[in-house]
Amino acid sequence: MRILLCGGAGYIGAHAYVVLVERGHEVIVADNFSNSSPGVLGRLQQITGQPVPFQPLDLRDREAVSGFFGRQHFDAVVHFAALKSVGESCERPLDYFHNNIGGTLNLLHGMQQTGVRRLVFSSSATVYGDPASVPVREDARLQVTNPYGRTKLVMEELIGDLCLSDPDFHAVNLRYFNPAGAHASGLIGEDPGGVPNNLMPYICQVAVGRRERLSVFGGDWPTLDGTGVRDYIHVMDLARAHADALDFVARERRNLTVNLGTGHGISVLQLVKAFADAAARDIPYQVVARRPGDVAEVYADPSLAHRMLGWRAELGVEAMCRDAWRWQSLNPQGYPAA
Ligand code: NAD
Ligand code: UD1
Repeated sequence: MRILLCGGAGYIGAHAYVVLVERGHEVIVADNFSNSSPGVLGRLQQITGQPVPFQPLDLRDREAVSGFFGRQHFDAVVHFAALKSVGESCERPLDYFHNNIGGTLNLLHGMQQTGVRRLVFSSSATVYGDPASVPVREDARLQVTNPYGRTKLVMEELIGDLCLSDPDFHAVNLRYFNPAGAHASGLIGEDPGGVPNNLMPYICQVAVGRRERLSVFGGDWPTLDGTGVRDYIHVMDLARAHADALDFVARERRNLTVNLGTGHGISVLQLVKAFADAAARDIPYQVVARRPGDVAEVYADPSLAHRMLGWRAELGVEAMCRDAWRWQSLNPQGYPAA
């Protein structure tokens, strides 16, 4: 297939690019680099041994998106492009609505105008909010607790309405749990701008000496060791699921929403220990107050993804820590300037 990756220069998109090229697809990356670096493109070329077709594109620019679709033919779109910081979304909700929801509308419009009817969408476990029970199944109650989460829920709903209106339009919503790790080459990985919000990149920056110590948000959660429990999923497992989802829409011509997680939760302190072992160095930390909006324990029931896509996570927490550390230690300051 000829596939457009919107937001393909970002963390998950770059890893998906590698898998899709390895599976023989022709893949075009479009991005506005609002949260990524052009340096990733050279690295993708190094890994795949081929130039990376790239289109600068801001999804907020409806005319540019329409014009781009008018000049190209695609068999499918994988849509990663979004702003993703929960805290920032609470401070600037309109920017999140404009970028994530407005950008998605422009994308869907461009697809419809040019007859592109296959979509794989990056959703998130954030749509479950504070789930009533774990493991979380796809039919759990949806509830969002912040503007970022609301954009994901609204985007799932918009896509659902488009599928209902056009029986030939098919979409797979992938609800990622907690992506972590990097490509085994150490050439691409997670490169957050500013202070990392998420646990794994923060640990990486402590390990490499960019930050003094990790703050563990709460030691009094009702969990095995008092720290928060999450379902960390290796980014290469996640990447593979996008290729499987594209095969699914092409083969089955149906819509689908699935969780992507391992089905196992681990605590903050368990992840810190696993990372310290993988990197063979101490990770200094201190337990501080809970982070507002956090929940005790979230992990996936990933069995639907196995049944429908034939997908399951293969890599464990050791591989996530080893690969994240390889990336961070080889690239202490992230991607080089392009
Ligand atoms: P990322 O920020 O690394 O990648 C997103 C990419 O989209 C970036 O390269 C950014 O420059 C681009 N982008 C943003 N707005 C754009 C616009 N208007 N036009 C063009 N490009 C734009 O994030 P990621 O971690 O790779 O996440 C990918 C997707 O997965 C996002 O939709 C995110 O919400 C979702 N998700 C991520 C996580 C996670 O923890 N990383 C978890 C659940 C869901
Ligand atoms: C966060 C987002 C969520 C998003 C998910 C995946 C919030 C409130 N939620 O969830 O919307 O879908 O990422 O991108 O931001 N932790 C620390 N110290 C840190 C960072 C994190 O102790 O410096 C703890 C957290 O309290 C949590 C765990 O580590 O228990 C994982 O945190 P994080 O990586 O931010 O992911 P989520 O909280 O699951």
